[in-house]
Amino acid sequence: MTTPGEFENRVQDLGVAIPFDSVVEPAPSGPLSRPIEIDGFRVGNRFCILPLEGWDSAEDGNPTNASLQRWRRLGRSGAKLIWGESAAVRPEGRSSPQQLLVDRSTLPGLDMLRLAAVEAHRQAHGDPADFKVGLQLTHSGRYSKPHGMSSPVSVRHHPYLDRTLGPPPDQPLLGDDEIYGLIETYVSAVALVAEAGFDFVDLKACHGYLGHELLGAFERPGDFGGSFENRVRFLTTIASRAKSAVPAIRLTLRLSAFDAVTHVADEDGVGRPITEGNYRYWFGTDETGHTVDLAEPVRLLTVMRDMGVNPVCITGSSPYNARHLQRPALNVSPGEYLPPEDPLVGVARHLDVTRRLKEAVPGLVMVGSGYSYLQQWMPNVAQAVVRSGAADIVGLGRLHLASPTAPSDVLSGRGLDTKKIWASF
Ligand SMILES: Cc1cc2nc3c(=O)[nH]c(=O)nc-3n(C[C@H](O)[C@H](O)[C@H](O)COP(=O)(O)O)c2cc1C
Repeated sequence: MTTPGEFENRVQDLGVAIPFDSVVEPAPSGPLSRPIEIDGFRVGNRFCILPLEGWDSAEDGNPTNASLQRWRRLGRSGAKLIWGESAAVRPEGRSSPQQLLVDRSTLPGLDMLRLAAVEAHRQAHGDPADFKVGLQLTHSGRYSKPHGMSSPVSVRHHPYLDRTLGPPPDQPLLGDDEIYGLIETYVSAVALVAEAGFDFVDLKACHGYLGHELLGAFERPGDFGGSFENRVRFLTTIASRAKSAVPAIRLTLRLSAFDAVTHVADEDGVGRPITEGNYRYWFGTDETGHTVDLAEPVRLLTVMRDMGVNPVCITGSSPYNARHLQRPALNVSPGEYLPPEDPLVGVARHLDVTRRLKEAVPGLVMVGSGYSYLQQWMPNVAQAVVRSGAADIVGLGRLHLASPTAPSDVLSGRGLDTKKIWASF
């Protein structure tokens, strides 16, 4: 797909919709360069670098020189919104011994990380008043590996994941009291991140980790399972408690707003939905688990908006459940299933879900994900999406790794470094 015509024909052949502007306008007039403001929280343009964990923190949860280097690249990128990577609220909830930890002992390190991005932005792009940097709070739940080996804790059963990942059958689910305790830990972590000077704190409710698993805890008894109100209680309680404990801090939410039945490789290595168990495990699907259903995501986002949680970042599924939904890609790593659909279909799903959520929940500023597979066509699609109001801000994940200054390349009119991008993809 080397010409816009070829790209648009391919999209048409696939029967999906991906908006496309043939001319991308640079700053200061282009739609991607326009600032956006939420109650005084001003973001200087429409690019965000999505959370990208670097697995380079020290054993004690502090950033290392490698982490600082990465965060300098975030600052130089030209994006005005940095949705900083996941940082564990407790040592046992780390996804690896190299994940950041939010703790009083790591506060100076977290502050240095933030400043690394801010200073790099100042040197490359000037005044950082409209440059916003956040940090994402997480507990890895079923995917916790604080010492390198799997040490899962779970909040709900899932026949396939219980059998393949654990926790072992004799390990009870995290109890309601323990979840209330974890909520308090999150609230303390919000206060610490605010003290470290970050502009916002993100509550991670995506990609299979604990905050996301609870949203699908349909069969869990007690305060955190069953009804919609119970399944969102973890997030709503953290948000309301954090708002009263740390009124000055801005809270955001990163949500896996759509999902599918767990996929595994078939005999040809292609991802197929598993057939065991019933499918009522995931948030953002209908009862069969095969079709996206945004009714509950809309309800949750409405509640969050009304609590002042804004902006939100929309993503889908998890790398452990239906990876092709989360990260559209043609090439996969060893051990991963091959994509069961053209990755452009995955990109179109991201765009469509975000557009529908934006329509359904006015007033909520939405950052979209899943643009990286578009490679050289990202700017054309990004501008068309923002111009039409289908998303407010375009989030870049893997594309930032391939081309760290992509936003400033687009906004300056230089254009993307396509050789770098193709080499990486
Ligand atoms: C190396 C790597 C690390 C990631 N770390 C995080 C993370 O810490 N938190 C998170 O919410 N998503 C994380 N993600 C997911 C990305 O933010 C993003 O949703 C995904 O890559 C799809 O967007 P893209 O098509 O622009 O890459 C990570 C992805 C990659 C490739």
